[in-house]
Amino acid sequence: MVDEQAIIEAKDKFEKLLRKQLERVEVLKNEGEPVDYDKLDKLIIGVCGGDGIGPYICASAQRVMEFLLKDRIEAGKAEIRVIDGLTIERRVEVMKAIPDDTLAELKECHLILKGPTTTPKKGDPWPNIESANVAMRKELDLFANVRPVSVPELGIDWTFYRENTEGSYALGSDGMNVTDDLAMDFCVATSQGTERIIRAGFEFAKKTGKNYVSIITKGNIIKTTDGKFLSMAEDIAKDYPEVKWDDWFIDITTAKLIDPARRSAFKVFVLPNLYGDIITDEAAQIQGGVGTAGSANIGTKYAMFEAIHGSAPRMVDEGRAQYADPCSMIKAVAMMMDHMGETEKAKKLNMALDVCCQFEKKLVMTGRDTGATGNEFADYIMETMQRDDLEAVWQGYIDELIAANQ
Ligand code: IPM
Ligand code: MG
Repeated sequence: MVDEQAIIEAKDKFEKLLRKQLERVEVLKNEGEPVDYDKLDKLIIGVCGGDGIGPYICASAQRVMEFLLKDRIEAGKAEIRVIDGLTIERRVEVMKAIPDDTLAELKECHLILKGPTTTPKKGDPWPNIESANVAMRKELDLFANVRPVSVPELGIDWTFYRENTEGSYALGSDGMNVTDDLAMDFCVATSQGTERIIRAGFEFAKKTGKNYVSIITKGNIIKTTDGKFLSMAEDIAKDYPEVKWDDWFIDITTAKLIDPARRSAFKVFVLPNLYGDIITDEAAQIQGGVGTAGSANIGTKYAMFEAIHGSAPRMVDEGRAQYADPCSMIKAVAMMMDHMGETEKAKKLNMALDVCCQFEKKLVMTGRDTGATGNEFADYIMETMQRDDLEAVWQGYIDELIAANQ
């Protein structure tokens, strides 16, 4: 016997979801121009520590950021605001992914540096509220999740443009248990949301001269939303005749990333949300682990920079949070510098990160008291950044690695 009542209730719920998404489309149609950071009187940067090791690694990264922006801050051209309230305790207290007052504070910033936040799942001691990350991406409309991965000695220089507000994440907390036996989730693709991420990827490929975009879907199975992604890519690509492009399915892409014969050919990937989530962890692992990767969440009005890993509550429980590696958050600072137009500072910081974390290793982080603390490591990075011979030293290490790999 089909449960007619369950169908009526599900239809009602589905109608509400449809209305909300269609309203969102209307908002997207009227999206303004991107912020011009050079035209601002004062750039406001919010810092949210998050949960677990978040406040520790975020504080170390904040020191590096303040060091880099010293001149601007002293001239009153930039302000750093610490925003509390994004903790799991507070979120649970008000039963919201982001408390209203915290969201209002975030919306007064142009840029945000965010530590990892606890994402509850079914069975956790916390109520199963929506992820703060996902909510922030949606609330601030941070549609492009940009994740670079580079391993120079292997010829790997990838940039992932992960769609960040739609796909399987858009209604990830709005699925339905239609009956006790039938659960359904939904996947969303809008023309506006799809177009802007694909254009962002192509623009980046063109601007950087990388000139090669791979569109990743599972369009043979997820025919409607992934099908739309792919067919829109086909059209948009026509506007970028100088950029070569192709398309791959997500499954084979995971294999190709570990295929030495193919992987170095890839440059820019553009992909729906969930595939981007999964494959960027794989890519980060190839680079040396998720702790080595930063992530930029870019929207038209706001941009947020974060690590790609979680909050490691165990380190806090075991009293060793101060030994957590802040490099992914410091990498996020480099991405922030790039985004605000401080390309030289970004370049220097990236070189210092390579030298300190991979090459010179005068200090090492072990996650325990056998290694350096996050703050000691941040000091080491800041000192390295000030070396006159930084570029030459960095290049020397890279050349050595390339030679060793030939
Ligand atoms: C990421 C993370 C998040 C995601 C989690 C923490 C919600 O895995 O940024 O990749 O799934 O997007
Ligand atoms: Mg992830």
